[in-house]
Amino acid sequence: MMYQRMKDIFEKVYGESEGVRVFFAPGRVNLIGEHTDYNGGHVFPCALTLGTYAAVRERDDGLIRMYSENVTGGLVVERESGDYKIYNRKLWSNYPYGVIWALDEQGKKLNCGYDIAYYGNIPGGAGLSSSASIEVLTAYMFNELCGFGLSLTDMALLCQYSENNYNRMNCGIMDQFASAMGRENMAIFLDTATLEYEYAPIELTDKVILIINSNVKHSLGSSKYNERRMESEAAFNSLKEELDIRTLGDLDEAEFDKYQHLIKDPVERKRAKHAVYENRRTINAYNALKRGDIEEFGRLMLESHMSLRDDYQVSCKEIDRIVELGMNCDGVYGIRITGGGFGGCCVSIVDEDKKDDIISYIGSEYRKSVGYDADFYTVLAGGGPAEVKG
Ligand code: GLA
Repeated sequence: MMYQRMKDIFEKVYGESEGVRVFFAPGRVNLIGEHTDYNGGHVFPCALTLGTYAAVRERDDGLIRMYSENVTGGLVVERESGDYKIYNRKLWSNYPYGVIWALDEQGKKLNCGYDIAYYGNIPGGAGLSSSASIEVLTAYMFNELCGFGLSLTDMALLCQYSENNYNRMNCGIMDQFASAMGRENMAIFLDTATLEYEYAPIELTDKVILIINSNVKHSLGSSKYNERRMESEAAFNSLKEELDIRTLGDLDEAEFDKYQHLIKDPVERKRAKHAVYENRRTINAYNALKRGDIEEFGRLMLESHMSLRDDYQVSCKEIDRIVELGMNCDGVYGIRITGGGFGGCCVSIVDEDKKDDIISYIGSEYRKSVGYDADFYTVLAGGGPAEVKG
């Protein structure tokens, strides 16, 4: 189905579609472990069945042409290969071009020009990693087309590098890793200090993962995100003067409490507290899921939200309203902001048979509070990047 759909989009833009190949990479939702990935902590995301698709075909010159079905007006962005100048910081195509640039930096040159049509079914700006999915898709596709021999972990690191250095978003490794390593019905428990990971089955039986999109776009997100990252680093540097640690993730709660006075700035102290406590919560949540203790998992999700709201300060009033409404509902085990923050989505675990009531309650109360609608998606954990066959 998606193969045909992508072929049709390609044909509409480039005339005909003989010989196109279609590829996919997923978005992700993070269950718990937020803003820990650049602090040497753990994260616990899963890839989604939603993601980004590309139809691609070689050209016999050096031109790279890209089109996105998601951008209104759908212009084809066209470049000579090797031209990596950023003409407009806001262009979506900076994500895939960044990946081609990063490949080139590693001496992996595309062997010809390409026509590409992208289409994604993840809501953009919602904290579900539409950008990481475009990046991983682009890396995976060229790895297949040009035989670069990169592993999935190599691709995740390359995509993070391009986002950090080409797009100037100083993100951690979580999103690209989750997209590259996704596995059906599994969440990924990743230690970002070592990149060691384990898959944990998401066995929710009569419960489901419900995502609630506040429809507040996290447009100021990247500058605020970079600011949080600097604050955490400053806190770490203050602790490191006296303690033998490599990252904030090396500390447990008791050690942090004992040494927190070393961080003089109260804001930086709060940021570090979140990073340390959130890391421990993530480890505990992983163990709770393994035991099938969803009540405990939910409780930790809620604690995570409070910490992101009060100590890390990456929530916003609309998201806090959704969490508050969720907490009033029977059948909600846990609910929290997910992703980079400053808008976007909440992730929750809810009883399947109460889901419709929960959606209608949160939906109508949210509309009364903010004057516009939230969107709701029940999601499944999906696999990683792949070629889509016809
Ligand atoms: C964004 C970044 C990730 C991670 C999260 C917060 O999604 O891309 O690396 O830091 O925010 O957990």
